[in-house]
Amino acid sequence: MKRRQEEVAVWRGELARREEVAVWRGALARREEVVMLSEEPARRREDVVLWRREPMRGPGMGRRKSFPAMCRGGFFLVLVVAMLFPWAGKVVAQGGGQYWDFPPMAPPHEYGDIVMDRVSSAAGRKPVYFSHWSHRRTAACLVCHFELGFEMEKGQTEIVEEDLGNGLYCGACHDGKTAFGNTEKTCANCHRKRPSGWKKKFKKFAKPFPKTGYGNRIDWVEATEKLDPPFSLSGDKPMAFDKRLDLAAEWAMVPPAMFPHVPHVRLLDCSNCHPDIFNIKKKSTKHFEMRFILAGKFCGVCHGKVAFPVQDCKRCHPKMRGSRH
Ligand code: HEC
Ligand code: HEC
Ligand code: HEC
Ligand code: HEC
Ligand code: HEC
Ligand code: HEC
Repeated sequence: MKRRQEEVAVWRGELARREEVAVWRGALARREEVVMLSEEPARRREDVVLWRREPMRGPGMGRRKSFPAMCRGGFFLVLVVAMLFPWAGKVVAQGGGQYWDFPPMAPPHEYGDIVMDRVSSAAGRKPVYFSHWSHRRTAACLVCHFELGFEMEKGQTEIVEEDLGNGLYCGACHDGKTAFGNTEKTCANCHRKRPSGWKKKFKKFAKPFPKTGYGNRIDWVEATEKLDPPFSLSGDKPMAFDKRLDLAAEWAMVPPAMFPHVPHVRLLDCSNCHPDIFNIKKKSTKHFEMRFILAGKFCGVCHGKVAFPVQDCKRCHPKMRGSRH
C-alpha cells in the first residue's frame, strides 16, 4: 500500500499543477477516509454505505492534453495501412507490438492468478496461490478491493495469518461456513503451488461461457450476467450510472476508445477508479495514452492483469476494422 501511494503521489505530482490538486482536496480527503476505514473493520460497512450514497463530484482537473506528436513515424503508417484492410486488428496488434512492449501473456487457465508471497516463504510456508477466475462467482471485485481492503496490486496487502481468524481478508468468507475455514487440514488449500489438474478445472468452468481471443478467453461481461456474483457484503446494489464515454484518440485515423460505465459499475466501486486513476471529467485525465496503459496505468491497472488484456484492441476501440461490435 505504501509503495502504491508513493507511486500515485509521484504520478500525480508529475501530472498535475498544485492548484489543480487543491481543487481535488475534497475528493482526496474522502478517499483517505476510505483507506483509514479499511483498517477499522467494525465501522467499515456502515461507512461503505455512506460513502457510496455520497456521489463523487468536483470539477475536472486539468485541461485536455497538449497537442501530441501525431505522426510518430512508422507507427502512423502501420495504422493507416491497418485501417484500410479488414485484417486490420491483427496488423495493428502486430504493428503495435513493434512500438509497444506487450507484457507476456499467461495461458488462459492462469491469467489473473496470483502468487502471494509477501510473508509466507519467510515464515516457512508455501506462498498462497489465489485465483481470480475461480472467485468470479463468489463476489464482485469491489467486495475484495473496496470492502475487504485488498490492494489492486500484487504483494501490497499486509495480511498476516491472525487476520484470517479475525474475519478479515480471505477470512471474511473462509470461515468454515461460506467457504472452507482455516484449520490444520486446510492450510494447504491456500498455501500451495498451482494445483495439478488446474487446466482441466478451468476448462470445465469456462465451458458455459462465450469465448474471446485473449486473457482467460472468457467474455466476462456475459459470464458475469450468468454468474451473478454478489455485489456487496452490505447488501448494496450497483449505482445506476450508465454513462458511456467515447474517448477520442489523440492520433488521426485512430477510432476512439469506448468507456462504458455499466459493466464496470456492476463490479467495481466508483472509488476503485475515481479519483486515483481517472479524473471525473471526460478527457481530462492527462497522459492518457496506450504506452502508459500498457505499463499498467489507467485502464491497464486491470486490463492486462485481471480484466481482458490490451491486445484485445477492438473491445475498447470498437470501430477498428474486424470489430465484433
Ligand atoms: C475474493 C477476493 C477478490 C475478488 C472478488 C477480486 N480480487 Fe483482485 N485481488 C485479490 C487479491 C487477494 C489480490 C492480490 C493482492 C495482494 O497480493 O496484495 C488481487 C489483486 C488484483 C490485482 C493486481 C494484480 C497484479 O498482478 O498485480 C488486480 C488488477 C485485481 N485484483 C483486479 C480485480 C478485478 C478487476 C476484480 C473483479 C473482476 C477482482 N480483482 C476481484 C482478491 C480479489
Ligand atoms: C468474498 C468471499 C471470499 C473471499 C474474500 C475469498 N474467498 Fe476463496 N472462495 C470463496 C468461496 C465461496 C469459495 C468456494 C468456491 C466454490 O466452491 O466454487 C472459495 C474457494 C477458494 C479456493 C478453492 C478454489 C481454488 O481456487 O482452488 C481457494 C484456494 C481459495 N478460495 C483461496 C482464497 C484466498 C487465498 C483468499 C484470500 C486471498 C480468498 N480465497 C478469499 C470465497 C471467498
Ligand atoms: C483461506 C486461505 C488461507 C488458509 C486456509 C491459510 N492461510 Fe496462511 N495465509 C493466507 C494468506 C493470504 C497469507 C498472506 C500471504 C502472503 O502475502 O505471503 C497467509 C500467510 C500465512 C503466514 C505468514 C504470515 C504470518 O502470519 O506469519 C503463515 C505462517 C501462515 N499463513 C500459516 C498458515 C497455517 C499454519 C494455516 C493452516 C492452519 C494457514 N496459513 C491457512 C491465506 C491462508
Ligand atoms: C473502471 C473505472 C471507472 C469506474 C469504476 C467508474 N468510472 Fe467514472 N469514469 C471513468 C473514466 C475512464 C472516465 C473518463 C475520464 C477521462 O476521460 O479523463 C470517467 C468519467 C466519469 C464522469 C465524467 C463524465 C463526463 O462526461 O465528463 C463521471 C461523472 C463519472 N465518471 C462518474 C462515475 C461514478 C458516479 C461512478 C460509480 C458509480 C464511476 N464513475 C465509476 C472510469 C470509471
Ligand atoms: C479497476 C479495474 C478496471 C479499470 C481501471 C478499467 N476496466 Fe474496463 N473492465 C474491467 C472489468 C472487470 C471488466 C469486465 C470484463 C472483464 O473482466 O474482462 C471490464 C470491461 C470493459 C469493457 C467491456 C467490454 C465488452 O465486451 O463489453 C470495456 C469496453 C472496457 N472495460 C474498457 C475500459 C477502458 C477503455 C478503460 C480505461 C479508460 C477501462 N476499461 C478501465 C475492469 C476495469
Ligand atoms: C482497455 C481498453 C483499450 C484497449 C484494449 C486498447 N486501447 Fe487503445 N486506447 C485506449 C484509451 C483509453 C486511449 C486514449 C483515449 C484518450 O486519449 O482519451 C487509447 C488510445 C489509442 C491510440 C492513440 C494514441 C495513444 O497512445 O493514446 C492508439 C493508436 C490506440 N489506442 C491503439 C490501440 C491498439 C492498436 C490496440 C490493440 C493492440 C488498443 N489500442 C487497445 C484504450 C484501449
